[in-house]
Amino acid sequence: MRSRSLTLLPAVLAVALAVPALSPASAAGGGGYALPGFAAQAAARTDYTIGIDPQAKGAPIDHTMYGVFFEDINRAADGGLYAELVQNRSFEYDPADNAGYTPLTGWAPTGGTLDVVDDDARLNERNRRHLKLGLPAGIINAGYNSGINVERDEKYDFSAWARTDQAAGTPLTVGLTDPAGKELAPGLKIQVRGDGWTKYTGTFRARESSTTGRLLVSGGGAGTLRLDMVSLMPRDTYKGHGLREDLAEKIAALKPGFVRFPGGCLVNTGSHYGYDASTGYERKRSYQWKDTIGPIEERATSANFWGYNQSYGLGYYEYFQFAEDIGAMPLPVVPALVTGCGQNRATDDPALLQRHIQDTLDLIEFANGPADSTWGRKRAEMGHPAPFGLTHLGVGNEENLPDAFFANFTRFRAAIEARYPDITVVGNSGPDDTGDTFDRLWQLNRDAGVEMVDEHYYNSPSWFLENNDRYDSYDRNGPKVFLGEYASQDNRFANALAEAAFMTGLERNADVVKLASYAPLLSNEDYVQWRPDMIWFDNDASWGSASYEVQKLFMNNVGDHVVKSTASGTPWNPQPITGAIGLSSWATSVAYDDVKVTAADGRELFADDFSGDASRWTGNGTGDWGVVDGAYVQADTGVTNPLVTAGDPTWSDFTFSVKATKRSGGEGFLIPFAVNGGGNPFWWNLGGWNNTRSAVDGGNSSRVFHSDDTTIETGRTYDLRVEVRGRTVKLFIDGRKWAEFADDTNRAPEPFRQVVTRDQKTGELILKVVNAQANAARTKVDLGAGTWVLPAAEATVLEGLPDDVNTEFTQPVKARKTQVRVSSGFTHTFPPHSVTFLRLKDKRR
Ligand code: AHR
Repeated sequence: MRSRSLTLLPAVLAVALAVPALSPASAAGGGGYALPGFAAQAAARTDYTIGIDPQAKGAPIDHTMYGVFFEDINRAADGGLYAELVQNRSFEYDPADNAGYTPLTGWAPTGGTLDVVDDDARLNERNRRHLKLGLPAGIINAGYNSGINVERDEKYDFSAWARTDQAAGTPLTVGLTDPAGKELAPGLKIQVRGDGWTKYTGTFRARESSTTGRLLVSGGGAGTLRLDMVSLMPRDTYKGHGLREDLAEKIAALKPGFVRFPGGCLVNTGSHYGYDASTGYERKRSYQWKDTIGPIEERATSANFWGYNQSYGLGYYEYFQFAEDIGAMPLPVVPALVTGCGQNRATDDPALLQRHIQDTLDLIEFANGPADSTWGRKRAEMGHPAPFGLTHLGVGNEENLPDAFFANFTRFRAAIEARYPDITVVGNSGPDDTGDTFDRLWQLNRDAGVEMVDEHYYNSPSWFLENNDRYDSYDRNGPKVFLGEYASQDNRFANALAEAAFMTGLERNADVVKLASYAPLLSNEDYVQWRPDMIWFDNDASWGSASYEVQKLFMNNVGDHVVKSTASGTPWNPQPITGAIGLSSWATSVAYDDVKVTAADGRELFADDFSGDASRWTGNGTGDWGVVDGAYVQADTGVTNPLVTAGDPTWSDFTFSVKATKRSGGEGFLIPFAVNGGGNPFWWNLGGWNNTRSAVDGGNSSRVFHSDDTTIETGRTYDLRVEVRGRTVKLFIDGRKWAEFADDTNRAPEPFRQVVTRDQKTGELILKVVNAQANAARTKVDLGAGTWVLPAAEATVLEGLPDDVNTEFTQPVKARKTQVRVSSGFTHTFPPHSVTFLRLKDKRR
């Protein structure tokens, strides 16, 4: 179990203020989420003071402080930001990428014979496959989600590589239709000539709109037609650079200071770091930037870490270009040849390591080198003679083998610094906010004088509310922090509020936390590997989550330096762990039996041996649950977290036992408890991370890791027991204690947080207040005597219910602007569950 010690807040000027007596008001706010310890408060309003000393400068804030982390996860690239509308355009999908794939995934035949060919007749060395059609024949592509999104009056550029064995040529007909075959645009007629690969192009102008469009390609006559790289791109892309406009605009609207790319686990993980001598590449190789530049038909597609195929149509050139287009600093991450993300391996091949180090030097030349240098020339040939201005580069991501990683990192860093001393080489501290790996990596980074360390954590909302002071005690002379990935574990407004409260602490510590990015950035709602996510989309629409709104607010109102401020706190009275029970799994079929819940005094509260039906259980609508041979079976190995719950949300001091058997699939059991109890539920994850480790998530803590070697055997029945007493939890497997922890009680999850910054250009003070609780926060704000502000301040407010979730059809969490009356000492009531940014204008300017 991790331990925490309290850290001291930095010395800020405390201004003691008298708060007028207030009369009680009616209950405000609502929703299913309450902070542990605050649930019992009946008052509708809490009184606070905020003291600001406008003259007291705090940390300077870099304009690059807040950025975005782009990873090709959840189909963020192909089927997402990369505007290509054809799925599997090069027939390269393969079972190695995903067991459900074939080279014709995404395609359907319309007649004739179709052969997928993988031979000498390939388009080029790195493009393995093409399609051979015995004419007459045709194929239809259905794009992503419900189909190809076609908008009336817009243009769509078609292209394909083709060759024919017919001396007179082969007529190619290309159509854009709806699923019933109704034309959305006049069709294209192309004559394919010659038996050598040639690129053919044409443009559609849509006459109709449809979100279920299909691309139809058919060859007439007789003989053989070969096709490859069948593409359809919307003419309008972001700044004409091939990215989907609505997604790129949403990212640009954040005004990010940097773009970290291309991952994540994606970067560092793959079964191969090298190339296979016979094919020139390996499908499951790690992300290697040289694979991703040059003509798109020469970019060898690869198995993506997240279980799909990546075309690299969105490659390193496009990432640099996008960063430039949105005014952000590019921050690539390269593999360190030590895998994290549940696959702990390190390369033992010095030549391979050296090759990757050289690749990284070449990457810097590609980004920054003159147009007549070897790699700078490639950039210039792709259309960008000027350098991209790379200044920071990450080596590695979330390695769990600290010493092996750091040995490699040191070699990369030495080589980069010898050749490019101005580049900041970013290290990392592993996958968690704390623990042995974290401590060891920080020590190694610190001892070696590494400039910046990439931290990652995905924690409960309470953790974010508790840990606002995390960076107050960081060594001001040690490595700076790049908070490269963080999020609280859901997409509700309550999560966004917790993140906002935490961000006030990041900003207050802007001298240490130099860069910060929420993660992941994008998610296609039909291809989700990870949630929560910041921006959601399907083939025709996109919408920002509540966290997106918070990020946007912070990124659009950064300021140039912190202004010192203090605030009073919220009374806290810790509550016992409370809630009902659950059963679940992750990509695994499981059977549960003999569920029992007893009170601390032995009274039976609940029992189900599934000798009847399972009517006492409520599902979340996913999974394939049913009673089979007297056990409750979840049969679907594709579904993630098909949660079913039962019991009383008011249970505290209880023992929950269950017999669990894994039937098939990749992981083990998910045993949720303290569900719907008002606090954060817990989740005992046995055989998680592809059955490589087991942990407990949730509650007031972030994660309690207890075993990297507890894995789950298929077919064996385990007796699992969870004992909850007060705020302490004990977990047993087959009668043996597996873990014991006390949910953090030494820190109040403070829901009222503030930070103040100064916008140098306008002279404005930006007061940023988060009130993440059901009570309104009546607050006396004191700017001190001698501070003159204009009486009307612009306020931007995010307000909602804690369970509010933005969707395609409704966005309850949206910023609204209003005016607030202010003075050098004013009272303002911050609404329940709100984030308020007030821009106070200096009267003298
Ligand atoms: O952001 C999603 C994943 O979370 C990243 O790939 C990885 O670095 C982290 O564990």
